[in-house]
Amino acid sequence: MSRQEPTLFDPVQAGELRLRNRVVMAPLTRNRAPDAIPTALMAQYYTQRASAGLLISEATAISQQGQGYFDVPGLYGTEQLDGWKTITRDVHAAGGTMVVQLWHVGRVSHTELQVNGDAPVAPSAITAKTRTVLMRDGVPTFVETSAPRALRANELPGIVHAYQTAARNAVETAGFDGVEIHGANGYLLDQFLKSGSNSRTDDYGGSIENRARLMLEVVRAVSGAVGGGRTGIRLSPVTPANDAFDADPQPLFAYLMRELATLHLAYVHVIEGATGGPRVLPDRPFDYVAMAATYRRAGGKGAWMVNNGLDKALAERELAAGADLFAFGRPYIANPDLVERLQRGGPFNTGDRDTYYGGGAKGYTDYPTLPR
Ligand SMILES: Cc1cc2nc3c(=O)[nH]c(=O)nc-3n(C[C@H](O)[C@H](O)[C@H](O)COP(=O)(O)O)c2cc1C
Repeated sequence: MSRQEPTLFDPVQAGELRLRNRVVMAPLTRNRAPDAIPTALMAQYYTQRASAGLLISEATAISQQGQGYFDVPGLYGTEQLDGWKTITRDVHAAGGTMVVQLWHVGRVSHTELQVNGDAPVAPSAITAKTRTVLMRDGVPTFVETSAPRALRANELPGIVHAYQTAARNAVETAGFDGVEIHGANGYLLDQFLKSGSNSRTDDYGGSIENRARLMLEVVRAVSGAVGGGRTGIRLSPVTPANDAFDADPQPLFAYLMRELATLHLAYVHVIEGATGGPRVLPDRPFDYVAMAATYRRAGGKGAWMVNNGLDKALAERELAAGADLFAFGRPYIANPDLVERLQRGGPFNTGDRDTYYGGGAKGYTDYPTLPR
């Protein structure tokens, strides 16, 4: 008799995290945290979605320097940690499991958001061809990112330390079940990783080993503080988001997989293709099956999480192919009870794009659930 195959709705273990199903709420920046402090409305929003196997918080700044957009929450102040504590308490009371996404935007920022109006920091002084969103007269407005300055090598230990402190505070003080290191979408760690944004000539630039160094130092520091089994990492090998580009990503990510495999992480989270766009990019071919196989061959345990444009059928195909967890982004904006809707085969609400970023309850906590 053949073994019963798991479904999307069966429990799974991801490192130390016992998840009640395999449906994950992807990290979604919603810009509703004035002064970087999480609110009661955010608690309501996350709690509405607590039937997910795992909630990944919106990207959350590890430091003021790591901020790049208006009204994004942080993890570097007491009031911020207190705000998150209320949220994790409510999510836990609803039976949910929640990690926080640790964010440093690097060059995707603006002088207005930086301490003393400083330039944003980056591996190299190369301006990202992308925009950020700032508040102008009460209206979220796209603005070109500011020219960054290259970080000095002697500043990097401070950045690693900021990740570690944020992770420790997230778990010990704010009550998160773990953390996800944001290594994707053209932000600081991805900027170091990829050749298009890193032209350094020191130990943090040039070879694959050097470009991956900062990310691996951060993963080791964070997992050392909270445990590998409570640490995940998000990667996007070929996304063009925020001007991210690498000339030869396959060997870069193979190296990273071999190194991460030794760290006993809760999960590796991979955005397949262009974030929020096509899953296959003709000019940026990439073999995700090979990436996952390299991780497993090198002894990598924990869960393999996939994301981007998933629906139930595609998630089921990826499950059959060996993935463990399935992150849904835009579907979670509009469907607080996404697990139940996937189970019943729909129907699904459509999200209102005008209320994705910023605002209040409208388009945030007012999407209907299915009648019981
Ligand atoms: C409004 C919005 C905010 C997002 N914020 C984040 C974020 O904070 N961190 C992150 O890693 N990805 C972020 N993403 C990307 C999503 O997590 C996800 O990768 C993307 O939407 C593709 O998945 P989907 O097709 O299921 O929506 C965001 C996407 C949207 C639409």
